[in-house]
Amino acid sequence: MHAVNAEPADRPDLWPWSAVRGDDGQLHLGGMPVSQILAGIHTPVYVLDQADFKGRAYVWATAMAEEFWDGYGMNGGRAYYAAKAFPSGYAMREAVSAGMGVDTASLGELTVALQAGAPPEDVGLHGNNKSDEELRLAIQTGPAGIGRIVIDSEEEVERIGEIARELGRRARVMVRVATGVHAGGHEFVATGHADQKFGLSLAAGDAKRVAWRAAEHPDLQFVGLHAHIGSQVFELEAFVQSATRLVGLVKELQEVGVPCGELDLGGGYAVAYTAADPVAPSQRDVARRLAEAVRSECASAGVPVPLVSVEPGRSVVAPSVVTLYRVGTVKPVPTESGRRIYVSVDGGMSDNIRPALYGARYSAILANRTSPAPLVDVRIVGKHCESGDIIAAHASLPQDVRRGDVLAVPVTGAYGHALASNYNLLPRPGTLGVENGQKQWIIYPEQISDLMVRDAFINARPTP
Ligand code: LLP
Repeated sequence: MHAVNAEPADRPDLWPWSAVRGDDGQLHLGGMPVSQILAGIHTPVYVLDQADFKGRAYVWATAMAEEFWDGYGMNGGRAYYAAKAFPSGYAMREAVSAGMGVDTASLGELTVALQAGAPPEDVGLHGNNKSDEELRLAIQTGPAGIGRIVIDSEEEVERIGEIARELGRRARVMVRVATGVHAGGHEFVATGHADQKFGLSLAAGDAKRVAWRAAEHPDLQFVGLHAHIGSQVFELEAFVQSATRLVGLVKELQEVGVPCGELDLGGGYAVAYTAADPVAPSQRDVARRLAEAVRSECASAGVPVPLVSVEPGRSVVAPSVVTLYRVGTVKPVPTESGRRIYVSVDGGMSDNIRPALYGARYSAILANRTSPAPLVDVRIVGKHCESGDIIAAHASLPQDVRRGDVLAVPVTGAYGHALASNYNLLPRPGTLGVENGQKQWIIYPEQISDLMVRDAFINARPTP
């Protein structure tokens, strides 16, 4: 197993734009050395490069708009920020300012999106089991409800229609299609194939029937079709295949008099996590390839090119964030073939569950100094009571790595904070925004006192 660490200069795609190894030997982010970033701040902390995040959002929005732009009168392309990757008001607001919409999947995400100022017409709602409360908020917000509620089952046609009628509105809906394309970095994040819970089968004709029913429903406005094939997908051809199948359905629907104004091709665009991963296709590459494919498929199917959107989460925010940990115990452990150095840090699976959940790989570099010591293969582990609490199974760090050093783990912006837990009653880390030598909290760190707020033994509240 090879170490997979890379300094910002060697693999810039793994690091935020502002990351640089300074002359002082420290890692700098947002124009500050880590010593300044961490002054008065506890580790672990997620550090978000604000310019990097805004830039990625802007590039997604621009690439989609430009690659799909086809002259005046054409709809073009759009990108929605999948808020689940890093659900924060800051991220949703900046995504909108950059020209993206916001994709949500729960009452919490939808509420924060609206609170953050996302225009309702630029917001979408997903879910295989939406609550009445979620649907009500989606339909009644703003002058005409949110831009799209994505229908995920046949029974939702009536359910959404009924709530819309009650509220005196027409709900704008899309239909989620299971296109049968199997893709994604891990079985748990592949979503387009058969025998999984999302969407309506294209092959079995369910998607067509439900789209037709939605289009006929007096209280619904059928906007178009949606597909999401999975997550951490490197192969653009998988998206192309899914898009091709969707265009086939657009044609079938056109033949029965149902026009389809929009196609959402979902999220799932991969990022590189370590130097062992290839550089992922750029947003521009993605948008260009999709535009080429959708245009040519529409031309051969004889249907007009619809508005095309995508819904990236990970690729907007993953590389914008670096987690900073403080090294504690450094311990040599005998193994079958010798010994391994275990470097323990002050967080772990509570701030990054992805290695344990998906076998995800991460790397780390020494961030507070450089060292002339030779590099050795170490295992970076957290402080939780599980041997699977591993941040990086193989990382090469200078042999003199010691208590008090700061480690920087890149590419932790997506599904890090989002999936964080209080396991072992660790307070969840905050997210600190850095830009131009300034720092600000984007998500406050939890305190031990926050952990006790819900403990009914310590903080008694009456039971209803
Ligand atoms: N749209 C829909 C309908 C989705 O379900 C998802 C992700 C996205 C967009 C955004 O996908 P992205 O571009 O971020 O890959 N916790 C897993 C990822 C789960 C993704 C769930 N849905 C992980 O840490 O890898």
